[in-house]
Amino acid sequence: CMQVATNVTEQKHHVSRAKRGQILGHLRGFRGCTVWFTGLSGAGKTSIAFELEAYLVSHGIPAYGLDGDNMRTGLNKDLGFSKRDREENIRRVAELAKLFADAGQVCLCSFVSPFAEDREVARRIHRDNDLPFFEVFIDTPLDVCEQRDTKGLYQKARLGVIKGFTGIDQPYEIPEHPELVVKTINFTVEESTMQVVEMLQENGIIP
Ligand code: PPS
Ligand code: MG
Repeated sequence: CMQVATNVTEQKHHVSRAKRGQILGHLRGFRGCTVWFTGLSGAGKTSIAFELEAYLVSHGIPAYGLDGDNMRTGLNKDLGFSKRDREENIRRVAELAKLFADAGQVCLCSFVSPFAEDREVARRIHRDNDLPFFEVFIDTPLDVCEQRDTKGLYQKARLGVIKGFTGIDQPYEIPEHPELVVKTINFTVEESTMQVVEMLQENGIIP
């Protein structure tokens, strides 16, 4: 059972967000926020998030992508795919994203994050810190993801080799009020990415 930290008080930084913004890139000003990509395995979360990361950085906007597969070999390597472990995965990553956003990065999170209440935790963590949070649903139907099966995981899940696979024998709860829905059928990764770029422009995150 986990110990809870007691006798801990928040320590305030001496650097304001405005000050951080001044030294970040040639496009001055604080632009810290989190874009949260959710969707089935194989939907296109990583492809779009990393394409967006490259786009933003090449346009002088500090951005950093946190990806499920990557986080699970490092910070979250002690976690599996039970509902409870996914909840802890998302909680930790949301706290980390908050720090990246607070540091002035456009933080791009690509996680299956199948449970609405876990995504709400991520949203709340950002809201409580006055940081913009954009939930982006990568809306690729299960049959298309399974057809793609880029990692061969759906086949393994169907054979029962992998248990608790999202969309097969664990649920994916469709976002009810995402800031953006991106469809990937009949669109290139670049086209889907530009939909997210436009959303960031409309919200004043990027010029
Ligand atoms: S979650 O639900 O948000 O905690 O998952 P996440 O951290 O994004 O990790 C998903 C990636 O792990 C691989 N994988 C699985 N996905 C879903 N369900 C099960 N059981 C599973 N087992 C392994 C898979 O590569 C996922 O990456 P993506 O990019 O989504 O395909
Ligand atoms: Mg991925």
